[in-house]
Amino acid sequence: MSEILEHREAGILTLTFNRIEKKNAITAAMYSALADAMVAAAEDEGVRVVVLQGHEQCFTAGNDLLDFLSNPPDTAAGASSAQPAPVVRFLESLRTFPKPLLAAVAGPAVGIGTTMLLHCDLVYAADNAAFSLPFVNLGLCPEAGASLLLPSLVGHPRAAEKLMLGEPFYAEEAVEMGLVNRVLPPGEVNACAQAQAAKLAAKPMASLRATKALMKMGQVGLQQIMGEELKLFGALLRGPAAKEAISAVMEKRKPDFSRC
Ligand code: COA
Repeated sequence: MSEILEHREAGILTLTFNRIEKKNAITAAMYSALADAMVAAAEDEGVRVVVLQGHEQCFTAGNDLLDFLSNPPDTAAGASSAQPAPVVRFLESLRTFPKPLLAAVAGPAVGIGTTMLLHCDLVYAADNAAFSLPFVNLGLCPEAGASLLLPSLVGHPRAAEKLMLGEPFYAEEAVEMGLVNRVLPPGEVNACAQAQAAKLAAKPMASLRATKALMKMGQVGLQQIMGEELKLFGALLRGPAAKEAISAVMEKRKPDFSRC
């Protein structure tokens, strides 16, 4: 079965991470499927709203760590390959998505599992949701525009705490930070997102698109920062700290950064 499920109903496209045996860790093939679906949804008049969701016990463990080691994305600007890396296409599809984008989050939302939420219009979280941005702990740096969007949302000191210490934070704090709209029991979060999506799907599209475009006009410099993040991320991913950190996670041991 596909690792990204696509379900269309009444103008709502729901994209579900479906690799629960690996905690919905996202591979290059999954980013490709997500990017293709988002790009098609942006163009398709039959799609009025998109919802991203995972499983009741896990949104996503973020980028697949084995993929990171064995197949690091070519993230350099103007990379030699004609087609940008799948993760880059997915991030760009999030940044430019012109219609309402919702997320329903339950369980862990690691790395890109949290940063993708900064591009969503409405986010609903289960009371078991655990958000984390462990980029520094993995020898990496933020992606998806988080280095701009998170400080804009919560201020520099709090964003630095989340991005530098990389410790998990939970649903109530995420609401208080303004990252999440509402907290629900895990069994209700997907239904809540669908109900809100249905309300949006019934509204005039031109007004929704204009509202979203106007709200995003203030995100000056986002595209440039996302480009810088990707360059640094790609370089760090090939460095010794990331290799040590990722191997340590996979081997379930503490990393040793004494020489990094
Ligand atoms: N990439 C690849 N595989 C992953 C993964 C990831 N990001 N996250 C989890 N998995 C795999 C585990 O290796 C394990 O595989 P196995 O059953 O073959 O041993 C399986 O998914 C279950 O993971 P496990 O760690 O046992 O589940 P858990 O419920 O105890 O913990 C998480 C869940 C998400 C908290 C934990 O898996 C985790 O921290 N993962 C790494 C997250 C991460 O660093 N992501 C990168 C962000 S940039």
